[in-house]
Amino acid sequence: MNHLIPLLALAPFQEPSNTPKLPDSPYFWLPVRASTVGESYDGLFMFIMWVSIVSALMLMGLMILFVAKYRAKSRKTQPQPSTDHHTGLEIIWSVVPLPIVIAMFAWGFQGFVELRTTPKDAFEVHVTGQKWKWLFEYPNGLTDDVLHVPMGQKTRVIINAVDVLHSFYLPAFRTKIDAVPGRYTELWFEPTAAGTYPIFCAEYCGTNHSSMITTVVVHEANEFKGWLKKQEELIDALPPVELGLKMYNQNGCSTCHSTDGTVKTGPSFKGVFGKAEKLSDGSTVTVDENYIKQSIEEPQSQLVQGFPPAMPTFKGKLSDKKIAGLIAFIKAQK
Ligand code: CUA
Repeated sequence: MNHLIPLLALAPFQEPSNTPKLPDSPYFWLPVRASTVGESYDGLFMFIMWVSIVSALMLMGLMILFVAKYRAKSRKTQPQPSTDHHTGLEIIWSVVPLPIVIAMFAWGFQGFVELRTTPKDAFEVHVTGQKWKWLFEYPNGLTDDVLHVPMGQKTRVIINAVDVLHSFYLPAFRTKIDAVPGRYTELWFEPTAAGTYPIFCAEYCGTNHSSMITTVVVHEANEFKGWLKKQEELIDALPPVELGLKMYNQNGCSTCHSTDGTVKTGPSFKGVFGKAEKLSDGSTVTVDENYIKQSIEEPQSQLVQGFPPAMPTFKGKLSDKKIAGLIAFIKAQK
């Protein structure tokens, strides 16, 4: 075993480059909290923890005490028969914990109902989880890989996954829910402090699970509408290649398709435009505008030989303008 230790020392843990810095927390081991439900949930957590610590200490303490006190004096003396039970003691250890566990249940149940009852009048954002990216879509059609929400307003997040199970986890808002392929799940929160907080994937989903990280930006309430509008104008004004680059990063294309010739899960985009590609069915196709559009919308219909059918479809998720941008971007990777 000893020879393993130097090896471990040589491989320091490398944080993914996109790891957001968690704001400093005044709550010891709990992360900073920034939603209306945080105080109550943290309170319940601390209550259960202290009850557990006190009962564990009591149990272990009494056990050690009794082991010492009632230890047989010698191997030769026979153990004394003990009284079979003590009614008073039994009533005490049944009655005293009862209200404590009922309190845990009532407090927890109240929180559960609160968390799972989504307010109807909330601001709605859709999020799609896929290997290994979160993509958010706002009511006005804007998409972004960072979640932006207004402060002091209830936000409802509707979640789905395109490939495997993921889990949408917002530690600062004390909420989390699975992202499941083929169905919608949802959660809600009401932010109480402007700032930037991390979002993690909390369900192992393959190679880059640990870097499936993004952030939520809580805007001041009056700033938010302006921000949303400005983003829309910015995207409209982008030249196609830049729009394409934005889509390439936002939609997770970059996790599988490099632009420098490195072969990852999918073919590299470098020099791919105009190239004749051999497909998995043995035929050959020239990479042109139509081939790219079809590959985005029906990725498995014309699979390049030697690559796994790993890409999710983007049909209905990217406007024609965005697809045109991606085509221009791929064209530009000479
Ligand atoms: Cu997605 Cu883990």
